[in-house]
Amino acid sequence: MSDYTVRTLRPDEHRTAADLFRLTLHHVPATDETWRRFTERMLQPGRTLGAFDTELIGTVRSFDAEITLPGGARAGVAAVTGVGVRPDRTRRGILTELMRAQLTDIASRGLPFAALRASEGVIYNRFGYGVTTRSRSYRIDRRRAVLRADVPAAGQVELWPLDTALERLPELYASLPHTRPGMMTRPPYWWPGWERHAREATSPVVTAVHHGPNGPDGYVVYTVERKNWNDPAVLEVLSLHTATGEAFNGLWRYLLGVDLVDTLRAEERPVDEPAELLFTDLRAVQDTGGGDELWLRLVDVPAALGAREYAGEPVVLEVVDPVLETNSGRYQVSPDGVRRTGAAADLRLGVDALAMIYLGAWRPSLLAAAGRIQPADPAVLLRADRLFATSVPAWCGTHF
Ligand SMILES: CC(C)(COP(=O)(O)OP(=O)(O)OC[C@H]1O[C@@H](n2cnc3c(N)ncnc32)[C@H](O)[C@@H]1OP(=O)(O)O)[C@@H](O)C(=O)NCCC(=O)NCCS
Repeated sequence: MSDYTVRTLRPDEHRTAADLFRLTLHHVPATDETWRRFTERMLQPGRTLGAFDTELIGTVRSFDAEITLPGGARAGVAAVTGVGVRPDRTRRGILTELMRAQLTDIASRGLPFAALRASEGVIYNRFGYGVTTRSRSYRIDRRRAVLRADVPAAGQVELWPLDTALERLPELYASLPHTRPGMMTRPPYWWPGWERHAREATSPVVTAVHHGPNGPDGYVVYTVERKNWNDPAVLEVLSLHTATGEAFNGLWRYLLGVDLVDTLRAEERPVDEPAELLFTDLRAVQDTGGGDELWLRLVDVPAALGAREYAGEPVVLEVVDPVLETNSGRYQVSPDGVRRTGAAADLRLGVDALAMIYLGAWRPSLLAAAGRIQPADPAVLLRADRLFATSVPAWCGTHF
């Protein structure tokens, strides 16, 4: 028996929840102005949950967005964020109760997916989330980064002042093709967080937009850290989305021309982003890391499995979901569709492992080798690898 309750918060409780979340991340509470101008506008009504004993001790929230799936379809996803339990109440099952309540609520809203960015790698598997996109970070040494003469040059780059960017970026982002599985829409609840970051940053947050033959076709948001007159300066790419290779080339051409910069850094980029192909010395681009990016949860397993495209031969999955138990069962998955089946399973896997193969981030055979998937016969793994493969690596590119 737990000695606390979990329920949806009333609007007059939202600020306490936001401050509690900030406390769990070791941040000071929002000022009145920050709360009014930004934080309050990030909350979708009815989507913040709280755990109480004598007072609020834990919280989670979400907002609705859409995620791109292999084959190009989009599906509803609850973007989960604001997860925190008061430090004097951790490790006694409070997050577990909040997650259970939140997933049940998301399922009752008919959303097939939930997704989040994890502060730590050990928290979310147990709730059925799995790493579904991975990213790469790199740095470019500007002295070594000479553009190849054959890199096509086309289009124009224009700076948008912050107010223009705030007004026009939502539409520009929405108009760019979501070519990779894992890319998400940015609904109105997302943008106030971006605005807050841009307005409260200590160095200017600059938006440069590439114009191609049909108008804006890509943008980069960046900031330059230059503490003292003679210190080396680092240009940090905060967001970069393009519709075409020309826009990608044009924006990097622009960034390399920004004065008073020694190093350019890009974090959480697609694993196959071709930055080094632009330079005479491909070692001008150095990997600085990478890792898990988006964590996905298949909330409605049959709907989620049925929403993406597949290639090759059918495979029967036996999915185990300890939290949303109606998802547990056997599914025949094939390019012709997905259906529940009584046939013997080819692969047995947890719903968290299913999320890891669902957007193609991991091959089923690799998860089987690591013991995360149990094949009835190892020969089926090649079929499963082909079934879940994607033509382009998944990537989200949106932080929330
Ligand atoms: C992460 C957090 C919300 C977990 O809350 P909690 O109430 O302690 O979680 P629970 O007690 O329900 O934990 C469930 C299980 O996960 C484990 N777990 C949870 N968080 C963990 C962590 N950070 N490190 C290691 N194990 C963790 C618990 O040990 C427990 O394991 P058990 O079932 O084997 O006993 C809380 O530690 C917190 O607020 N952290 C700081 C803020 C943060 O990182 N938020 C997440 C943002 S994405």
